[in-house]
Amino acid sequence: MSIDYVVSKAGPLSGEFRVPGDKSISHRSVIFGALADGVTEIRGFLDGLDCLATRDAFRAMGVRIDGPDAGCLRIHGVGMAGLTAPDQPLDLGNSGTSMRLLAGLLCAQPFDSALTGDASLSRRPMRRVIDPLSRMGAMIHGSDNGTPPLEISGGRLLHGIHHISPVASAQVKSALLLAGLYATGETRIDEPAPSRDHTERMLEAFGYPIHRESLSVRLSGGHRLRAASVEVPADLSSAAFFLVGASITPGSEILLRDVGINPTRTGVIQILRAMGADIRLERERMFGAEPVADLRVRAAPLHGIEIPEALVPLAIDEFPALFVAAAYAEGETVLTGAAELRVKESDRIQVMADGLARLGALVDPRPDGIRIQGGTLKSGRIESHGDHRIAMAFAMAALRAEGTIEIGDCNNVETSFPGFANMAVEAGLTVSTVFRDA
Ligand code: S3P
Repeated sequence: MSIDYVVSKAGPLSGEFRVPGDKSISHRSVIFGALADGVTEIRGFLDGLDCLATRDAFRAMGVRIDGPDAGCLRIHGVGMAGLTAPDQPLDLGNSGTSMRLLAGLLCAQPFDSALTGDASLSRRPMRRVIDPLSRMGAMIHGSDNGTPPLEISGGRLLHGIHHISPVASAQVKSALLLAGLYATGETRIDEPAPSRDHTERMLEAFGYPIHRESLSVRLSGGHRLRAASVEVPADLSSAAFFLVGASITPGSEILLRDVGINPTRTGVIQILRAMGADIRLERERMFGAEPVADLRVRAAPLHGIEIPEALVPLAIDEFPALFVAAAYAEGETVLTGAAELRVKESDRIQVMADGLARLGALVDPRPDGIRIQGGTLKSGRIESHGDHRIAMAFAMAALRAEGTIEIGDCNNVETSFPGFANMAVEAGLTVSTVFRDA
């Protein structure tokens, strides 16, 4: 069955909400919990399909994991050397984070393994992890063009490397750090710009010694991880749809509780504020190693901007939502330096450009970005190409459109935001879910 959304204009958005747990932090909590000594308890775990794929992969490698039960996951850690060979290839569904992080971990294990995924994941570039991991001594085979499935040979002795990464990618950095836990000597990664640092924060929380200095992180192999309790913040990447929805819809005011505001993630808030949005941070506090706040957002007139390239890695998952904000802003919004968007769950520059153009917007997609002329959108049908964030971004676009927007292929919203349609309805959108034969 394929799921379509049919979304139409409603009143202003209002209410208080907690969007589901942070995807990046949920993945990492399973990985480090599994490798730690002792029982790790996670609260606020995202039970979206991506994180469940990571959980299931560790279950298949002999780790007892209970839950999630009301957001609580208990992981009975097996220690650094306790994983066992999976009987079958590990199917990671739509999840690029699972595939890249597990590639780093599994190339250091004594057993062979294989990683597979759905059609979207099977198109995503893996050389960015295969090449540096191979330099560490790993043996990983992808398809000829460097895409999944990955065949990983076990029993390799890894050695640390100094990797100067051409892209700011937390997945690459985290894959190398995971391999580095098992390598002889030091593993060091230098990045061209900051990428999300949840791996570093969680390693520290689990008692693993690491060294960080501006754009560089290094660690040595051979230490152990201690079980910890993890409280997962609400995901700013999921909150972003409501930040945009409330900003563009006159009369709206919503409060989003417990949202992660790690400074390596807050580009979306900075960009929206630069466009004129009214977003306030309330009750700033820490959930363990991660900063959180309640976000209050009120409707405000938005204007187009040139998005500073330095903010691109800090907002990398929020551009589908930001493009919708740009489509309703006064004047032109220009994005450059964002070629990475072309290799996400879909080609997010092209797919958003096609959808916005379909709804009457003036857009000019470029190899590394897009120009969007603000105005209004009309009704129509767009395709999400199985990309969760495209589907949710266009759902918000319906708030100001002249008529109904139909969005095809929304099944993958479940990968990151289970319950999205219900929460959107509670906030004031009119969303119906239509099941069609695939
Ligand atoms: C993620 C890193 C980012 C992001 C993805 C989650 C992570 O990918 O787009 O959704 O959890 O490490 P890149 O590392 O490819 O930038």
